[in-house]
Amino acid sequence: MPQKERERWGSGKGFLLAALGSAVGLGNVWRFSYVAGENGGGAFLLVYLGMVFLVGVPLLLGELALGRSTQREGGGASEVLAPASHWTRVGLLGVVVASLILIYYAVIAGWVLKYLVLYLRNATPEFAVAGFAPAFHNFIAHPIEPLAWQLVVMALAMVIVARGVERGIEAISMLLMPALGLLLLALAIHSATLPGFQRGVAFLLLPDWAALTQPRIYLAALGQAFFSIGLAMGVMVTYGSYLTQSHRLPGAAVVIALGDTLFAVIAGLVIFPAVFSFGLDPAQGPALAFIVLPEVFSQMKGGAMVGTTFFLLLTIAALTSAVSLLEVPVAYAMHRFGWSRKRASVGLGSVIFMLGIPASLGFGPWAGLTAMGGRGILDAMDFVAVNILLPLNGLLIALFLGWIWRRRDALAACDLHESRLGRFWHFSVRYTVPLLVAVVLIRSVWWSAQ
Ligand code: TRP
Repeated sequence: MPQKERERWGSGKGFLLAALGSAVGLGNVWRFSYVAGENGGGAFLLVYLGMVFLVGVPLLLGELALGRSTQREGGGASEVLAPASHWTRVGLLGVVVASLILIYYAVIAGWVLKYLVLYLRNATPEFAVAGFAPAFHNFIAHPIEPLAWQLVVMALAMVIVARGVERGIEAISMLLMPALGLLLLALAIHSATLPGFQRGVAFLLLPDWAALTQPRIYLAALGQAFFSIGLAMGVMVTYGSYLTQSHRLPGAAVVIALGDTLFAVIAGLVIFPAVFSFGLDPAQGPALAFIVLPEVFSQMKGGAMVGTTFFLLLTIAALTSAVSLLEVPVAYAMHRFGWSRKRASVGLGSVIFMLGIPASLGFGPWAGLTAMGGRGILDAMDFVAVNILLPLNGLLIALFLGWIWRRRDALAACDLHESRLGRFWHFSVRYTVPLLVAVVLIRSVWWSAQ
């Protein structure tokens, strides 16, 4: 098969914004806030920061380096460095799990879009005459409506990915990511005027030292770091493969990880003060964004405006992440089967949409179907993906980086060489990351077997 010239990012800034677009998603706002709420607020944040720097940054740097040095997408990079070995299956596992995550990610992104449109039409009062909780549950239980929103999300992702790396993914990131930053800033400024601001800040920033003795905090923090940065699924390998040697990877890895973390923290500073100002409980689980916050907005002065801003922000964040998840199987199919980008995007996007139908129906007509200890279909998918497959693949990637890839080549690919930083990176991917991730994985598997 004649190899066409590889697609490229148009600029270093475009690459950074696209990578940030992948990292910043539902995970930073929707997932981070409820996981932090359930795991002790400030104490969780502290452990989370530790995980980002000990595990997140080294792995992120390694993934970018794998992609750039092999010039192959996630799923293909291991074929170059360890041909005809079992390692090629590790890459393939990433492709499969990225698709699995997108299957249910698009369902939740569809809910977000529905709420955005509600706020834009000023229609939340009619929507929630009987209260926000019943309204939300009625909506997700509907057999058709959530599917329509999910389809819109997938269609947008397919169009963007079909347009290509520079004209699709990069262009949309250049347009939407600065807007995302501004929306967050506006919400943060507004949050500082709320009566519950101090309590919210204290909840997020003051660690409750006693909570640090609970092992589940460490596990939750590591899983959240993987999901939020978007590691272990070949997304960053794929995005790295569209780079040339002219970029410095260590700086990029720090910017992406730090930017992602900053976004989550500021989102927390928007959400918790709002929740406390209206006397609600932050540890509400996944419903925080769809029930608690709309409730808060309905009582807040100017809440319609704040609600619109919030759901616009969440829609943008979810869309750019969905795009990155779709790019992984698309890039793989293009290389492996020689498909055109258009065919791969539309074909695989449609299949992923269809596989998402059961996840959505699991809240309505198929509510009786449960797996993994009474979980609904979507929850079971999220549980398996985030608690088992994500750490498993992360562990394997770290082992590959630290033990299989020749030390000299790996360091050079990371732009590190035998510097102090280089030695630290290599030690991390060789020992720290595998060890920490293995502990999490064993705990997760042990839990799910209960
Ligand atoms: N990071 C995104 C979020 O925070 C989701 C995401 C994008 C992701 N790419 C990923 C999660 C790869 C896991 C693996 O919402």
